[in-house]
Amino acid sequence: RAKRPAGAPDRKLARPVGKIGVVGAGLMASQLALLFARQLKVPVVMTDIDQARVDKGVGYVHAEVDKLLAKKRISPDAANRTKSLVTGSVSKEAFADADFVIEAVFEELNVKKQVFKEVEAIVSPECILATNTSSLSVTAMAEDLEHPERLVGFHFFNPVAVMPLLEIVRVPATDDAVLATAFELAKGLKKSAVLVKDAAAFVVNRILLRLMGEVTAAFDEGTPAEVADNALRPMGLPMTPFTLGAMVGLPVAQHVQESLHTAFGERFTVSQNLQKLIDNGVKSIWASSNGAAEK
Ligand code: CAA
Repeated sequence: RAKRPAGAPDRKLARPVGKIGVVGAGLMASQLALLFARQLKVPVVMTDIDQARVDKGVGYVHAEVDKLLAKKRISPDAANRTKSLVTGSVSKEAFADADFVIEAVFEELNVKKQVFKEVEAIVSPECILATNTSSLSVTAMAEDLEHPERLVGFHFFNPVAVMPLLEIVRVPATDDAVLATAFELAKGLKKSAVLVKDAAAFVVNRILLRLMGEVTAAFDEGTPAEVADNALRPMGLPMTPFTLGAMVGLPVAQHVQESLHTAFGERFTVSQNLQKLIDNGVKSIWASSNGAAEK
């Protein structure tokens, strides 16, 4: 019998999840929608602020399923099923019958709080609310909730399809049944879930950002991007820090740096050049030193 993960309540407390809502249709949200539909085989609805964003998110899911099909990693039946399970809407009313709603919107506490306020006005009192935040306080997100006991942190890593880890965060109010459901979902998603404390950037990003901070500091101090970045290649990292930053998105990387600086001061630096690159609309740090700026 599989060992219960440390801190996970009795699985008998877990509630069934028949429909999932994803707030946002950006890259992270779309990857989550794909994972949920493919692994849990339940309907997943994604929402965003306009139809173009929603269409892009659903389009991403279809394109990724087609790639899996081309590589024979998914059967034609499963591919069709996964595609048909993922829908999009510009209205959060689509969450009315959802059992679990996860947000993957911009890393700004007030934006997330507003999202949860709108979602709570629509869903049933039992519907679980989850946040995919990578650096913000989950406890702070629970403050204005009508039912804080339904909130849980559910933090995935990029690319969601292949990264095996999931950080689960409970807040003081989180109900055991909610936490048990989160662990059961993780199992269904074939992810290794670990319960982490609600501390800035949890565990993984806190470690990652110390490394990232040294590389961006060297860059700020005048080291060419590729020299600073490649210095860590001999460590055998699967991706260099700047490649990772480009994949996650520079504004996201910048926000995580800021959150950690706010929480821990000088232990974590905020790169000034990263901000300049973002202001100029440059998506990849590498582009700044090889002259091929991707905008
Ligand atoms: N989406 C879906 N699948 C992807 C993918 C993507 N973006 N990137 C790679 N894959 C798949 C590939 O299709 C391939 O699958 P198949 O075996 O079925 O073909 C598999 O992953 C391996 O890919 P590759 O052989 O092309 O490349 P690789 O061996 O270099 O592995 C990688 C790719 C797994 C992404 C690896 O480079 C890696 O582990 N990188 C580090 C990623 C990481 O650290 N992520 C954490 C980011 S931090 C974060 O997410 C924090 C945050 O909260 C802000």
